[in-house]
Amino acid sequence: MRHFLSVLSFVLGLFTAVSGETYLKRTVPKGFVTTRGAEFELDGSPFAFVGANSYWLPLLTSAEDVEATFQEMNKAGIKVLRTWGFNAINASELAGALQSGLTYYQVWNNTDWTLNDGPQGLQRLDNVLEVALKYDIRVILAFTNNWVGYGGMELYINHITGAPTHDVFYTDPKIIASYQRYVKTIVNRYKGSPAIFAWEMMNEARCLGDLPAGPACVPGSGTLATWYKEQSDFIRSLDPHHLITTGGEGHFFWKTQDPVFSTDYNFNGQAGEDFDFDLTLPNIDFATYHMYPQTWYPQLDFPGSNFSVEAWGLFWIDAHANAAKKAGKPLILEEFGITGLANRTKIYPTWVNRALDTKHGILPWQFGMLGLKEDGGNRLIKYADALIDGASPNDGQLKSD
Ligand SMILES: *[C@@H]1O[C@H](CO)[C@@H](O)[C@H](O)[C@H]1NC(C)=O
Ligand SMILES: *[C@@H]1O[C@H](CO)[C@@H](O)[C@H](O)[C@H]1NC(C)=O
Ligand SMILES: *[C@@H]1O[C@H](CO)[C@@H](O)[C@H](O)[C@H]1NC(C)=O
Ligand SMILES: *[C@@H]1O[C@H](CO)[C@@H](O)[C@H](O)[C@H]1NC(C)=O
Repeated sequence: MRHFLSVLSFVLGLFTAVSGETYLKRTVPKGFVTTRGAEFELDGSPFAFVGANSYWLPLLTSAEDVEATFQEMNKAGIKVLRTWGFNAINASELAGALQSGLTYYQVWNNTDWTLNDGPQGLQRLDNVLEVALKYDIRVILAFTNNWVGYGGMELYINHITGAPTHDVFYTDPKIIASYQRYVKTIVNRYKGSPAIFAWEMMNEARCLGDLPAGPACVPGSGTLATWYKEQSDFIRSLDPHHLITTGGEGHFFWKTQDPVFSTDYNFNGQAGEDFDFDLTLPNIDFATYHMYPQTWYPQLDFPGSNFSVEAWGLFWIDAHANAAKKAGKPLILEEFGITGLANRTKIYPTWVNRALDTKHGILPWQFGMLGLKEDGGNRLIKYADALIDGASPNDGQLKSD
């Protein structure tokens, strides 16, 4: 059986384990993470992990600071890092970027973008991936952002079509071709690298972004599911080995009359995702979801939640664990956060234990680092994100505030 498998590498087959359980398995090169049924696997052993997010790592200008950060993550037991595989600017921002040292991979001008694979561009991402692997950390890379931060999908919309709604990103053929050109660039650059944990199609895809949603992206339209299917198939055609996932927040499309669930965008399909269905797509290898009860779910109002952030989170964790179990695929709670040290001290252990009990991988938002040395420890990166006295950018979700 084993010999047969290695001859048939690249092929996804249906296998039956000793337990009698049926699972999907892809044969991958040594050092590549893969899945085995509802678990991750690395070199034939189950791979369970706690990881972290740090979108700011590829934005550091000093290789020494990158090294120090990974060293610290390694000491903390982190096995998986999620960061952005995009950093895009427009032509009018280029002069400023060259002056400030801002990392950028794409420069938009008129209706197209040009690639920056130089030392202030993709070479910084090359370095992040190399150092990650040195510290035994694997990286989830997202190809673009639902939001404008660091050059998201609305740059594609504004430059290519100028359309007034967000969801044209998922349907306009010119936009899809441009997105795929970028995806292909990144995938081809790193497809042989065991530093990649997974490709992620988008950070937090929704019908709306900073632009409003259009009438074509509504509950039941399947707009996002169709896009997830097309893009995951496209990525698989470029790379037979690495895992592929959505990067989504895990919104549901529950067809229910319940007065709370049917009016809440987290459950009624209005956000765009259909967590249960999206997970069944053949080239979605595992599921992702995010969790920010304080800002997303102000009512915290469904039966059993008792208006508590903690109970809401436990329900959200269980709902995703149940759906992933049904689909027989692994699951990552890949962003979560609450503000306030006292809140975190009280609530995180309950959430983390529930996630670990239900076999999640988990990645808090986000990992912070002190003692960074570049520019004397002070630098405005972009927008309001800055290194201050050697501390990485802090959006109020760090462990110690
Ligand atoms: C380019 O970026 C700047 C700064 O974010 C913005 O003000 C401007 O509108 C953008 N130009 C285009 C054509 O998108
Ligand atoms: C953007 O395009 C315009 C018009 O084609 C050109 O003059 C300009 O040099 C371009 N800017 C950059 C940064 O490539
Ligand atoms: C709901 O929350 C209130 C206030 O925190 C508490 O007194 C009550 O016992 C809770 N009820 C249940 C059913 O958990
Ligand atoms: C702790 O959580 C509660 C409930 O969401 C919130 O009202 C409060 O502001 C949080 N504390 C801090 C310091 O953020």
